Amino acid sequence: MLMEDYTTLGFDISPVHTSRLNDVDFDNLAFGKVFSDHMFVMDFADGKWQRGEVSAFGPMTFSPAMMSLHYGQAIFEGMKAFRQPDGSVSLFRPGANIKRFNFSARRMSMPEVPEDVFMQALVEMLKLDQGWVPSKADSALYIRPFMFATEAHVGVRPSQRYRFCIFTCPVGAYYTKAVRVKVEQHFTRAAHGGTGAAKAAGNYAGSLYPTELAKSEGYDQILWTDASTHTAVEECGTMNVAFVIDGKMVVPKTSDTVLSGVTRASAIHLMQHEGIDVEERRVTVQELVDAAEAGSLTEAFGLGTAATVSPICTLGLPGKDWDLPDFATWTVAPTVKKSLDGVRYGTGEDPFGWNIPV
Ligand code: COI
Repeated sequence: MLMEDYTTLGFDISPVHTSRLNDVDFDNLAFGKVFSDHMFVMDFADGKWQRGEVSAFGPMTFSPAMMSLHYGQAIFEGMKAFRQPDGSVSLFRPGANIKRFNFSARRMSMPEVPEDVFMQALVEMLKLDQGWVPSKADSALYIRPFMFATEAHVGVRPSQRYRFCIFTCPVGAYYTKAVRVKVEQHFTRAAHGGTGAAKAAGNYAGSLYPTELAKSEGYDQILWTDASTHTAVEECGTMNVAFVIDGKMVVPKTSDTVLSGVTRASAIHLMQHEGIDVEERRVTVQELVDAAEAGSLTEAFGLGTAATVSPICTLGLPGKDWDLPDFATWTVAPTVKKSLDGVRYGTGEDPFGWNIPV
């Protein structure tokens, strides 16, 4: 879909007078530390969305009684825009993120953002901040849409006021090296009937303490297992996860305890399109240990918007670490990355029309 296809939905647009773009070192982009010039803000009040505004990225003022601070109604998304070979800018599957955002909103009793308004906001932001989209390999403009309850009220019920915002950050790689993951068999990320499939801020808060413990034990991230038995693998840190066992790409299936990742789904579709066998199913810790011992666990990697395709070098269980073979011998993860990058950076085939020019 092209930018001209969108009618202007009546946002107020106040471009900055002086861009901060020249202050940015695009050769050394840390993840999530640099923010582009503009942000989008739209409030929900009196039962409806009010007029949105694009203005300078900057602080906001709120009541200490703002409900999201107390009862956690806060959700977010992560998506990316990519510089194309002809210098233009494209979004990768924005519709999938918008749908997941509204899924999260429903689960957290928050109002949905109309898809066309969301898309128009992205387009308006990218029109103004297209100079912030980096062009170096493995870099992108990370887009962070989010919504939180803003009503000042003490008492547990859904807020009657919300704020929907978008800001963007030029980013490089999220993980700069392969990650060591601890197989978590005590703490739980999500249980059936909970909020694990929503991109709710609280899910990340609950992961911090176990992750800090894992870090103190020499790991970078946690491989989460199911809440009731801790025998089945679910997610890895802030990513979905995939393995190569006996030459097959094996991906833990999604459920109400697993975030349905856009990168995960895209990787599966692209690999199937390339004729690579992909199994989406229950994957147990024991199966991974057995395969590691037999030498048939040849690759393990995270899949996520921020992290893209992130190799895992070690799986840690109590008393024993299982090291994956050297990355140079891997074939599937590099193929996933190449295919995804081909679509996203406009350098390869886009069999499903996921690269959306703006
Ligand atoms: C993403 O991959 O976009 C995420 O949401 C991870 C984030 C928590 C950095």
